[in-house]
Amino acid sequence: MKGIKIFSPATIANLVCGFDIIGLSLDFPNDEIFLYKSNNPGIHIQQIHGSSLPQDPNKNVAFIALQALLKTYKKKHKIEKYKKIGFTLELIKNILPGSGIGSSAASAAGVVFGANILLGKPFNKMQLIRFAMEGERIASGTFHADNVAPAIMGGVTLVRSYHPLDITKLPSPKELWVSIIHPQIEIKTSDAREILKKKILMKDAIRQWGNIGALIAGLYQENYELISRSLEDVIVEPIRSMLIPAFYELKKKCKEIGALGGGISGSGPSVFMLSKGNHTAQKVTDMMNRVYSSLRIDYKTYTSPINQRGIKWNKI
Ligand code: HSE
Repeated sequence: MKGIKIFSPATIANLVCGFDIIGLSLDFPNDEIFLYKSNNPGIHIQQIHGSSLPQDPNKNVAFIALQALLKTYKKKHKIEKYKKIGFTLELIKNILPGSGIGSSAASAAGVVFGANILLGKPFNKMQLIRFAMEGERIASGTFHADNVAPAIMGGVTLVRSYHPLDITKLPSPKELWVSIIHPQIEIKTSDAREILKKKILMKDAIRQWGNIGALIAGLYQENYELISRSLEDVIVEPIRSMLIPAFYELKKKCKEIGALGGGISGSGPSVFMLSKGNHTAQKVTDMMNRVYSSLRIDYKTYTSPINQRGIKWNKI
């Protein structure tokens, strides 16, 4: 196989209470990536559509992630084979950088997933996540996996530990749907992390880990009410919400019409809401539209089920 087309999904990190440890994969939007193996050694970014991402390889998350994969491949397969390997890639960015729905993760995870297939699958998913995290580090300044893990593994994922990396997939109730609003303002993850407190109170930690545990129990039990009660963040949201126009109004109005709950998607500015069933999720998305149509801010909305497969691909 010489080339593949990859559909790399948007993801929602944190899922309100699980800062840096829980993430969820969406069916759409997706970045589209065309990846070809070539005899021209190295990584060649042909074109990036839809966004002005850095072409400079050292600042490009896709390049960095792919380079991390190739370095390990080189060690495994001796230098002679590595020397002849080249990749050409073309990226269609449907997930805008700074949106909070895993734009850099989609690029990083997509390319390493695709390269692994073109190389005959020498790596497992955990290794791919590690390579993709190298790309994430360039984008956000930290080594976090709560976007790349759900992109690669699909569904809802939990990072138990970063050192060593220990990630597991959680079940998700079939009727869980997601509404997302992406206000067209850019918040850099690195900035949204900079403003967070470095220390937290014990009482807040207790409340937060109670919510995380209960959220996971709710996912296993398909208990929508427990999920709803657990969607509370007393640590990160009170600070980051200041960056998002009409955040609390959005949350209140969506819950009034049946959303289970929600909050900031990743580091924002996107806001997401979970609902039971497509019908309620559509109503919630309509409500998001209504709240934002009175503000002078452009926005986009999406309604999506949870994507159990993660990255999808086909031969070209
Ligand atoms: N967990 C990360 C954060 C996700 O909230 O900073 C960034 O997309």
